[in-house]
Amino acid sequence: MKRVLLFDSGVGGLSVLDALAASGAGYELDYAADNAWLPYGLKSDTQLRARVPALLAALAAQWAPDLIVIACNTASTIALDAVRAAVDAPVVGVVPPVKPAAAQSQTGVIGLLATPATVRRTYTDDLIAQFAADKIVVRFGSAALVEEAERRLAGAPARNEAITEAIGGLFGAPNGQDVDVVALACTHFPLLAADLAAAAPRACLWLDSGAAIARRVAQLLSPPPGLARARRAGFTDARQAHALAPAFAARGFSVLAGIGADPGFDTAPIAGHRLRVSCSVAARVHCAR
Ligand code: DGL
Repeated sequence: MKRVLLFDSGVGGLSVLDALAASGAGYELDYAADNAWLPYGLKSDTQLRARVPALLAALAAQWAPDLIVIACNTASTIALDAVRAAVDAPVVGVVPPVKPAAAQSQTGVIGLLATPATVRRTYTDDLIAQFAADKIVVRFGSAALVEEAERRLAGAPARNEAITEAIGGLFGAPNGQDVDVVALACTHFPLLAADLAAAAPRACLWLDSGAAIARRVAQLLSPPPGLARARRAGFTDARQAHALAPAFAARGFSVLAGIGADPGFDTAPIAGHRLRVSCSVAARVHCAR
């Protein structure tokens, strides 16, 4: 079975994992979350370009994936080339679904909901210039939605402030009343899509990149049809992983692990740490150094 490693700052990559699992392909799925550094959307480009390739190179050396998915728009739009240079396995990045959004808009006004970092990236400007030059693109950056998705998957009761703020920011902006397609350009946001759609002042098409990523991974790996099997999930801040255990167990993960975490990461890369894993789905998290 081909082994795919999905990487995100936190739980957002689970929206991509769900799309891979739904594609009917027989993969073995590993997951790594750099939750010690969450949220990426508030980190500088320089910080992410240094950290993400180093982290993935160390992890790839230990977990030997056949393919890596950077299931994070914020990391992909700044560090995809650097990660490709740092690892041997093929790397698929998740980037804002501007092209399909532009293609499907009837009004010519599309919304782009992403992290504060992704909305201002040159990568995003270039995508818009290439695929949506004849459209009006209303952008809104939210770190609060990332936090809300994290809270909910950790079992906290839903709060609506972040949803209300994002919907107001998008549809209340100049031209926002005409948005008919919204590109969800952060992998955390599909986890909140139902609430976002319910709060929107009009019916819209809400697009994410999950299915496109699943197609790209299938092209590269030619997997046999079958059931995807989730295997282990690693966290750079293992303490936070306890609360997330049910969300990961629900997706079939049987092992949660700590992966060499801050503050030692910069000087002692993950490869220098032994992963010790728990076999219980109840997901006791061990962080072994
Ligand atoms: N899930 C990530 C993305 O797709 C970012 C979340 C964060 O800000 O850490 O952009």
